[in-house]
Amino acid sequence: MRKPMVAGNWKMNGDIVTNEHLFTAIRGGLERASIAQVDVVVCPPYPYLGQAAAWLNDTGVVLGAQNLCSQPNGAFTGEVSATMLSDLGCGWVIIGHSERRTILGEDDELVARKVEIALAEGLGVIVCVGESLQERDAGVTEAVLGRQVDAFCALAGGAAAERFVVAYEPVWAIGTGKTASPEMAQAAHAFIRARLASGGVGHAADIRILYGGSVKANNASSLFGMPDIDGGLIGGASLVADDFLNICRAAQAA
Ligand code: 13P
Repeated sequence: MRKPMVAGNWKMNGDIVTNEHLFTAIRGGLERASIAQVDVVVCPPYPYLGQAAAWLNDTGVVLGAQNLCSQPNGAFTGEVSATMLSDLGCGWVIIGHSERRTILGEDDELVARKVEIALAEGLGVIVCVGESLQERDAGVTEAVLGRQVDAFCALAGGAAAERFVVAYEPVWAIGTGKTASPEMAQAAHAFIRARLASGGVGHAADIRILYGGSVKANNASSLFGMPDIDGGLIGGASLVADDFLNICRAAQAA
């Protein structure tokens, strides 16, 4: 039985004052939300991890980061290490988000190195994969997903299932309001799970695969109802407490 997860990826949004409003609303809503069967993760920008830890530490919500450095420490100006994330109370880190792959040039090899260092530190990883619109239109979605999954299969095989999460985020659905249909997302998730299994991940059936890309309170239930969709990685809707909590409720009900 895979425990559903809903992770909020705030991206580069928020400030001390608006965060405080959001944390207050999330805290207030959590008490009424009855989402005990869902792993809820919030991933604010680095500078606000400490603020988030203080607001959320007794709520059961786990803190996550949006990225980390592939190196353990040293002369890497502007980077943040896995150890620092642990130190700040992070339990999770998002790795290989498409915005980092496409805008910041991260490739499969770098993604794998980041996964390796995060796991070695004891962090849980949420590793993102997904095809662009051009790739989908060209009929190479499975080739792209296969290549991305193959790059971290060995690491997934060696990690505990509870700490290794894959997020399928079709690039064309991110921030566009265009959600993959539940059937389309399910097909991709089933492919990813099968690829993990054929790549030697013995516990592929226990690894959670989240869907991300314009998940909203009004489409979460239909997505989370699919057999291989184990929750969501939420961008825009994670910045609105009621929407985020309603998505968590949908995961609980699925
Ligand atoms: P949106 O939910 O805003 O489409 O963003 C999805 C995403 O990229 C989460 O990582």
